[in-house]
Amino acid sequence: MSSQPKLRILYTRAEIEAKVDKLAGKIRRDYLGKHPILICVLKGSFMFTADLIRRLNFPLEIEFVQLSSYGRDRESSGKIKVVQPLHSPIEGRDVLVIEDIVDTGTTIAFLLNYLRDKKPASLKLCALTDKPSRRKVPVTIDYLGFTVSDKFIVGYGLDWDEKFRYLPDICVLEGED
Ligand code: IMP
Ligand code: MG
Repeated sequence: MSSQPKLRILYTRAEIEAKVDKLAGKIRRDYLGKHPILICVLKGSFMFTADLIRRLNFPLEIEFVQLSSYGRDRESSGKIKVVQPLHSPIEGRDVLVIEDIVDTGTTIAFLLNYLRDKKPASLKLCALTDKPSRRKVPVTIDYLGFTVSDKFIVGYGLDWDEKFRYLPDICVLEGED
C-alpha cells in the first residue's frame, strides 16, 4: 500500500438506521407469522443482519453461510466456493437471504442456486447495497437498502482486505487505485 487510503462517508449511521427501519417494516409485513429462516451471508452482512432482526422482532431462525471472498482484489474471481455450508435443512421453509452488497451478481446468483437446490418453499433476497452498473449476472433483489454508483465501499460490515468492517458508517474507499 503506497499511501493510507482515504475514507469519505457515503451513508451515515443515522441514514443506515432509517433505511434498516424501513426495510424491517416491509419484511415484517411480508413474513409475520411465517417463521422464516434468515440466512446471513458472512462476513459482510453480520452487522446489517443483527440490526435488521432486532427490528423484525417476530419468531424467526437465523443461519449463516460463508462464500469464498476476494482477498485483496476488488474484483470477483468468478470462482465461488462455499466455505461454510448451511447446516440446517431449509426444505419447505420460507428463506430470506441477507447480503451486504450485490456487485457483479456472481456471488449471490451462485448462493441462490445453491439454496434453491435445497427446495425452500420460498427464496427471497434482501441486500443492503446494490451496484447495478456492475452487474454481469441478473439478480432480483426483493428488499434493497441503497443503490450505489461504481465506488468501492467499506464499513458497516463491508471490508477491503478484512479492514474497515467495524466502521459504523458506510464509506467510500478513495486513493487506492
Ligand atoms: P459479486 O459476486 O461481484 O456480486 O460480489 C459480491 C461480493 O463482493 C460481496 O459480497 C462483497 O464481499 C464483495 N464486494 C463487492 N463490491 C464491494 C464493495 O464495494 N465493498 C466491499 N465489498 C464488495
Ligand atoms: Mg458478501
